[in-house]
Amino acid sequence: MQISLPTTLKQRRQRLDEIFDQPVILWSGRAQVRNFPANTYPFRASSHFLYFAGLPLENAVIRLENGKLELFIDNPSPDSALWHGEMPTRDEIAAKIGADAAYPLTELSKRTANAATVAVQDSSTCLQQSQLCDRPVAPANAPQGIDLALAKAIVSLRLSHDATALSELRQAAKVAVTAHKAGMKVTSKVKTEAAVRAAMEAVILANNMTCSYNSIVTVRGEILHNNKYDNRLQSGDLILADVGAETESGWASDITRTWAVNGQFSSTQRDIYEIVLAAHDACIDKIHPGVEYQDIHLLAASIIAEGLVNLGILQGNVSDLVETDAHALFFPHGIGHLLGLDVHDMEDLGDLAGYEEGRERSERFGLNYLRLNRPLRPNMLVTIEPGFYQVPGILNNAQMREKYADVVNWERLEIFADVRGIRIEDDVLVTESGSEVLTEELPNRVDEIEELVRG
Ligand code: GLY
Ligand code: MN
Ligand code: MN
Repeated sequence: MQISLPTTLKQRRQRLDEIFDQPVILWSGRAQVRNFPANTYPFRASSHFLYFAGLPLENAVIRLENGKLELFIDNPSPDSALWHGEMPTRDEIAAKIGADAAYPLTELSKRTANAATVAVQDSSTCLQQSQLCDRPVAPANAPQGIDLALAKAIVSLRLSHDATALSELRQAAKVAVTAHKAGMKVTSKVKTEAAVRAAMEAVILANNMTCSYNSIVTVRGEILHNNKYDNRLQSGDLILADVGAETESGWASDITRTWAVNGQFSSTQRDIYEIVLAAHDACIDKIHPGVEYQDIHLLAASIIAEGLVNLGILQGNVSDLVETDAHALFFPHGIGHLLGLDVHDMEDLGDLAGYEEGRERSERFGLNYLRLNRPLRPNMLVTIEPGFYQVPGILNNAQMREKYADVVNWERLEIFADVRGIRIEDDVLVTESGSEVLTEELPNRVDEIEELVRG
């Protein structure tokens, strides 16, 4: 049964009220202007606002106290209808989200005493937050005092998703799955990364969603955040596509697949792909409430190290290799992260959400990029995204070559030159008894992917 938006929002603020007993004020933020006021960058409301307000309202504020919701937003100006058509009034919006009261923005200054907040990303709104709260509001990744207490309370709520959130997250996952299938199917018909990206993002746009981050669609998969799309596709290349969708109310998906441009993995590409897939499958099998996410990361590291030993690329004992971070030469990032209203959910708060209280990032090369270090709990959504990359900045680094001179068979590695980057990424919900892969409709076995690409 579908739960209404006002009911969901009421439950969220009541849960907040149980663990946080001061007034809370959350700003949505404003669109950033490009060159003149009406030409803006796409607006994205702050995720903490979205969680409690439900709608992507621009230049709006909510105040929460004792489980009640007050909305502050101005009515559309009379001449805005010329440019934007009829816009909903303050009272109409208030009814839609179940607000207990609604006021113009000018009223907010009378209601800010003792309130906690979370700094938004856009600097002009952030300045306004400090002015209206009449105190400095520190950046979201370094909150202080009551704002820190509020951030911790919000984290504890947003770590586990409610039914409404899960319904949105499933829709975002479904659309991204369709986008990836479209990318695979179009590859044989086009010549460039840009055209594959266009086919994938077209699916997202056609579903009235947006991309949840800048898509990565590249034959240079070793460039981890490659946001260029200008390479031509060549037979023999692998294409790595990391593309996710975001629903209108902000809920995200995050999927990566890697396929062969010509529809058939070479034997070297297949060998490495199978190792990454084995790590992916084992990590998902291990997901249960109570399991430490860092142990899942280390499991991936072991499976990748073992696979590379079997291929003769690494040499030595697997646990020694993992302890000395030799796997990270080829798998330099973490096994994944939280997913929710944001890809890398709540990372605006630094590591407050990703790291259990009292834990800090390790200095180790093989653990430093781990973004989540907590025991898993039901209704958490995480990504599982092992990979293998030949990053020149790592593999040609003189210190790395010296440190790992004895454990890498550099000559043998050259045979695998056609494997620049492989990642397999799915969105996995922690359930009471294990896990559910929200993106499982998208194939990840070599034969299934080859079939999709060849049409
Ligand atoms: N798409 C960003 C990530 O996978 O972390
Ligand atoms: Mn991810
Ligand atoms: Mn991704």
